[in-house]
Amino acid sequence: MSVHIASTTAPVNIATLKYWGKRDTALNLPTNSSISVTLAQEDLRTLTSAATSASFERDTLWLNGKEESLDNKRTQDCLQDLRDLRRALEEQDKSLEPLSQWKLHIASENNFPTAAGLASSAAGFAALVVAIAKLYQLPQDMSALSKVARKGSGSACRSLFGGFVAWEMGEQADGSDSQAVQVLPLDKWPEMKAAILVVSDAKKDTSSTSGMQRTVHTSDLFKERVDTVVPRRFNEMKEAIVQRDFPRFAELTMRDSNSFHATCLDSYPPIFYLNDTSRKIIRLVDGINAFYNETIVAYTFDAGPNAVLYYEEKNEQKLFAFLYHLLSGVDGWKSKYGDEQLKAFSD
Ligand code: PMV
Repeated sequence: MSVHIASTTAPVNIATLKYWGKRDTALNLPTNSSISVTLAQEDLRTLTSAATSASFERDTLWLNGKEESLDNKRTQDCLQDLRDLRRALEEQDKSLEPLSQWKLHIASENNFPTAAGLASSAAGFAALVVAIAKLYQLPQDMSALSKVARKGSGSACRSLFGGFVAWEMGEQADGSDSQAVQVLPLDKWPEMKAAILVVSDAKKDTSSTSGMQRTVHTSDLFKERVDTVVPRRFNEMKEAIVQRDFPRFAELTMRDSNSFHATCLDSYPPIFYLNDTSRKIIRLVDGINAFYNETIVAYTFDAGPNAVLYYEEKNEQKLFAFLYHLLSGVDGWKSKYGDEQLKAFSD
């Protein structure tokens, strides 16, 4: 019996304007629009293969070589939507095989630590949806597929596009207009780079879903953030991206990271995602920008202590000169730069 198979990779995206808060938990509809940068494929990514055959007896999912339960509602919602889209195709074209009725075997692998605030669920659900969409030969309208990925994990909808991506929160109660769109492809701003400082690869202790719920229900700052601050920032940040205005983009990114973590701290009981090392990195970035009297680097932190630094390639040496002094004893540098080259940074 024939087996159909398709594979894809999806990169991680890191928000520069954070999604934090759901107006509809079942459909993953956000309380604000958000913006992110999708990292390059060769950096952090999920590789997913999906197979289907009339002979398969049950749906299965393997994550990093371990079988995982497919029982959770979010995954089931994604699979259901994809099967419905395939069924619609089969009804139009009777010569198609009934893939929508067959069971699926899915295998997924991350090349980075899972659930450590490195947006693994974003890459994971994006790869799952695109792999099955390929398997089912669904029309590749990424914004339409982003609505399916969104149900798996909100931020996943943004990983369907490369470069700078906006997730428009939408207004409809059924989520039909809550989708991702590309703001600018990466090749239009190729100097933009990201460095990830992995402060800890431990699993985070407050999941984003429960953290968001607590913030929405208990933080006083939250209302100001979603009603006033983020809508204004959403337009300003899109403008800064289109104009490739790094200092403006960087300031908005840092302000938004601060604002998001402030609402976490303002939740009751408070949620702490940053730790002492994260705070040192914030001070270091401030210090670097002050030293050069120019904003050459921005920090941002998701629901965990790890930092993502954005900078333009022309400033890599200026930035790494500082980072090397502080971090040269830590693993991870040698993969891209040799010792000699690193020493040259700090001279
Ligand atoms: O998509 P989730 O449920 O993993 O939430 C992501 C939340 C943040 O990473 C903190 C912000 C964002 O916009 O990605």
